[in-house]
Amino acid sequence: MTSGSAYGTEAATRAALHVAAVLGSEAPVAAIILGSGLGGLVERFADSRAISFKDVPGFPSATIVGHSGKIISGKLAGRPVIALAGRFHMYEGHDAALAGFPVRVLHALGARTLFVSNAAGGIRRTFRGGELMLIRDHINLTFRNPLIGSLEQGDDRFPDMSDAYDAHLCDRLRAHALALGTALEEGVYGGLLGPSYETPAEVRMLAALGVDAVGMSTVPEVIVARARGMRVAGVSCVTNAAAGYAGHPLSHEEVLGVSQSVRERFEPLVERFVANL
Ligand code: HPA
Repeated sequence: MTSGSAYGTEAATRAALHVAAVLGSEAPVAAIILGSGLGGLVERFADSRAISFKDVPGFPSATIVGHSGKIISGKLAGRPVIALAGRFHMYEGHDAALAGFPVRVLHALGARTLFVSNAAGGIRRTFRGGELMLIRDHINLTFRNPLIGSLEQGDDRFPDMSDAYDAHLCDRLRAHALALGTALEEGVYGGLLGPSYETPAEVRMLAALGVDAVGMSTVPEVIVARARGMRVAGVSCVTNAAAGYAGHPLSHEEVLGVSQSVRERFEPLVERFVANL
């Protein structure tokens, strides 16, 4: 049974038909979601084509600074990929289902492997701004779930999350980082609603819960990907020490500046990942 919901399978199929008409219909070997300040990866795409979020049926327009709000197709390391530069956050007032909807569209476009990235605050005491963290697992601290509602056609009603971040893909990312001489920490991503940053007391709580890096995205996307049976891998760009550790107030400008400075480590890692899929 399908719900025909605004952000369900049928809506995703409609959106994908339009996107494929603009970008071409070659099935991507991977879909890539680019976090705040990480959108520069698309400059490495050959034969790139783009469509603005506002032109995708079913998408609202992206507003946040640092997010151009585009779906971009092209060749990375000679292989067809599709990327989202920008995403929908729940702190913008969007439902969890909308935050996960672009992943339904990527799946409808043929992607079966999803690479997620984000900017995150470092909860682990040793994390400094600029660190890359392989996401080994997440904790959903938004207490919202994009799958709530009628079962969507093709979704798993109760998706297994024990291997949400695919162990085999994690192994490959570790190997790629080693080969590139790129330091890659690993840990647990804690997804919060935002948009306020955490208080120092919340940061201590997150540490006690086993969170290594904290952010305001990713979780709904990964849950939808798992419900669709996609393999997921991901990297957090730790842009700052979490509140109370840094000795100065956090700002979105700091987050954007640092994530742009990790480009020369982040981009070759993703490129090599795609080349070897
Ligand atoms: N907290 C939450 N989200 C973030 C942070 C942070 O410190 N840095 C970048 N995104």
